[in-house]
Amino acid sequence: MAVELPQWLEDLRRAEVVDRVRNDPRSGSGRFFGLSGHTAMNAIGWGQAPFDEPWGDLSPEDRALLYAYFNQKGHLEELTEAFRQMFPNRTPDDLIVIDVGCGPCTGGLALAGVLDPPTFDYIGLDSSVTMRDLGERMAASLRRLKGMRRCWASGPAAVDWDRAPSWRSVLVIVSYLLASPTLDPAQLVTDLDKLLAKLGKGRVSVLYTNSPKASANRNFPSFQKAMQDAGFDMPADGTGEIVVERWEGDQQRHLRYAVFHRPAQNRLPLGGG
Ligand SMILES: C[S@@+](CC[C@H](N)C(=O)[O-])C[C@H]1O[C@@H](n2cnc3c(N)ncnc32)[C@H](O)[C@@H]1O
Repeated sequence: MAVELPQWLEDLRRAEVVDRVRNDPRSGSGRFFGLSGHTAMNAIGWGQAPFDEPWGDLSPEDRALLYAYFNQKGHLEELTEAFRQMFPNRTPDDLIVIDVGCGPCTGGLALAGVLDPPTFDYIGLDSSVTMRDLGERMAASLRRLKGMRRCWASGPAAVDWDRAPSWRSVLVIVSYLLASPTLDPAQLVTDLDKLLAKLGKGRVSVLYTNSPKASANRNFPSFQKAMQDAGFDMPADGTGEIVVERWEGDQQRHLRYAVFHRPAQNRLPLGGG
C-alpha cells in the first residue's frame, strides 16, 4: 500500500511550496522559476547545493523552494514509514529530536505527522540559513505544531542548549545528508556526541536514510566507524522500498537505511569489574 502523508502536511506543502513555485510569474508550461525540470535539478545540485548562494537568476530562497518542490516529498514519505515502524503504539515521553542536515524541517514534519500529539523538542541543524528559514516558516504556519518546541543552528557545535542535562531519550535523524561534499563524517559524529552529552545521558536512536546509490553512501563506512567508536550499535542496515502515489500511478521508491542505538548511560565508569 502506498505511504500516505497526513492531509495537513499535504496542505502545508501545497501552500508553502507547491503553490509558491507554480504561481510564480516565471513558472508555467512545464517550467519552474523559468527553468526546465532538468536545469532546476542542476540548480539545486540534486539536493546538495550551497543553498545560501544565488544561482543564475535564482535567489537562495528560490533554490530552497525548488529543493522542497522536487525532493522533500519522497523524503517525508520514507521518514513517515520509518517513524510508523519505530513508534507503532505510542508517543514517547519528552523526546528530543536532532534533525541533522534538516533542510526545510523534513524530519520534524514527518515525525509530527506520526506522533499524536506532536510534543517534542526539535533541534533543526542545517549549514544553510535559507533552508532553516524555510523550515521554520513551514512549521510556524501550523497551530497543530505549537507543541513542537523548535531551535535551529548551523550544526551540532553551534547549538545553544541551556537546559540541565537529563535522562530524556533522543532521536537523531540523518536524512540524505551524507552525500554532502562539505561533510566530514567523523567530525560530525564528534560534534554530535558533544551535543548529546549536553542534552544528558538518555538513550539515543539514530535513523539514517539515503538514496541507495553507492556514490550517495560513500561516506557511510566512516560515519558507521565513528558511530561505533562513540558507543553505538547498528541493529538495522539495509536497502528497501516503499510505494508512493504519484499522478502517473503508484511507484516504488528505493532507499538505503540504517538504525544506530546507544542505551542510556546509567553505569558509572568506576573501572574494574
Ligand atoms: C539533500 S538535503 C536533505 C534535507 C532533509 N534532511 C531532507 O531529507 O529533505 C541536504 C541538506 O543538508 C544541508 N547540509 C549540507 N552539508 C551540511 C553540513 N556539513 N552540515 C549541516 N548541514 C549540511 C544542506 O544545506 C541541505 O539542506
